[in-house]
Amino acid sequence: MSRQLTAALVCALIAAAASTLHVRAGSAASAAAPDGKAIFAAKCAACHQANGTGGGPYPPLAGNGDVTASDTATLILTVLNGRSGPIQVNGKTFSGAMPAWKDQFSSDDIAAVLTYIRSAWTNKAAAVTSEQVAAARNPIALSGGQIFAAKCATCHQASGQGTSAYPPLNGNPHVSATDPKEMIATIVNGRSGALVVNGTTYNGKMPTWKGQLSHADIAAVATYIRSAWTNKAPGVTEQQVAASGPSVLSAVGASIYASKCASCHGAAGQGGGHGTFPALAGDSLVNSADPNGMIALVEHGRSMMPSWRGQLSAGDIAAVATFVRAAWGNKGGPVSEQDVTAVK
Ligand code: HEC
Ligand code: HEC
Ligand code: HEC
Repeated sequence: MSRQLTAALVCALIAAAASTLHVRAGSAASAAAPDGKAIFAAKCAACHQANGTGGGPYPPLAGNGDVTASDTATLILTVLNGRSGPIQVNGKTFSGAMPAWKDQFSSDDIAAVLTYIRSAWTNKAAAVTSEQVAAARNPIALSGGQIFAAKCATCHQASGQGTSAYPPLNGNPHVSATDPKEMIATIVNGRSGALVVNGTTYNGKMPTWKGQLSHADIAAVATYIRSAWTNKAPGVTEQQVAASGPSVLSAVGASIYASKCASCHGAAGQGGGHGTFPALAGDSLVNSADPNGMIALVEHGRSMMPSWRGQLSAGDIAAVATFVRAAWGNKGGPVSEQDVTAVK
């Protein structure tokens, strides 16, 4: 055996021993320490494949820098809360829906499966502890002020005074508005384009926090900015953040539309191909109060309209249908994932 090979073998043995130790330590040496590999095989491999290579809309977990990142915050939130919408992995764009696991699994289980995917295949990253998962589960533990300091103050400044490029949040009537819906949607989805605050025009890009901050975190930071400094507006609840869901869905839908539908139906739903591809703006099927006809058409296709069943998840079809039914003057109303799964 060559020396290199022997060295590699010894390293692998040490790594295996170390990861066994981590699993034990993380679960307080309980007799039934959760087996991350078994959880992966039972719950994750159907999409990500047993060898972690993914396929189709499912990104690889092997050789994926997001999975092995030293900062595990986003990774933990992804598996706890799920995520959907375009994601770039190794230069390739995926756009599916990853389910949420927080209600099915204990923090010990999630730590075990994360530890597994960080150390399986060619991955070689440190273990995740159940304490880290538990902390991410109850994000309100981080106060709104702490979130603001960590995530927002670089642009909006510590006292919310803003700069010439970033709008102030202190003394900003949009922030203290009686109905916080629009402000919540800005934090969830981000925004860009001209924005006038107290007579000054800003024209920058507010990042989207969806997927990076939980609903509870967004409620906490929104409550903070509405009551900090000289602002005196009432707090925002987690339910209000969750209720801004349709606009979250609509942002996902917009990106699906741009990548999957606009080539035929036009970026503004105006149709194309000299009448081959119908306009969706003002279309009667799209605007019908009952969304079933449109859902069935998107799922099954018709002549040159592709069938999207199997290519887009039910959540994605709901998102793109919701987007199309609200865009360009359409007034069809939102479509839920349940609406989509109910259509055969
Ligand atoms: C129904 C299919 C499905 C199952 C089951 C599933 N995933 Fe996913 N997963 C996805 C999709 C799709 C994405 C990409 C989501 C997107 O496009 O935003 C994803 C993304 C991820 C990511 C983020 C990768 C990155 O680069 O940020 C991680 C980590 C992950 N999954 C881990 C898991 C684990 C662990 C399990 C099992 C507990 C699991 N997944 C089960 C479909 C699935
Ligand atoms: C990278 C810089 C940056 C970061 C970080 C950032 N913002 Fe912003 N934010 C902006 C910009 C730029 C705008 C104005 C966008 C525009 O011109 O359309 C904005 C706009 C806003 C608005 C809308 C204000 C209004 O008058 O309607 C709110 C609310 C807001 N940000 C809150 C936050 C919160 C909360 C965080 C942290 C979770 C945060 N921002 C992090 C750059 C940032
Ligand atoms: C390859 C071109 C193509 C793509 C891509 C495409 N469509 Fe279509 N679509 C068509 C054609 C052609 C029709 C007309 C089908 C017929 O009735 O003969 C159609 C019809 C429709 C209709 C029905 C309009 C009506 O009232 O007749 C809807 C709704 C629709 N498409 C939505 C979508 C959505 C949403 C997407 C993206 C997920 C999409 N399409 C992607 C070609 C396309």
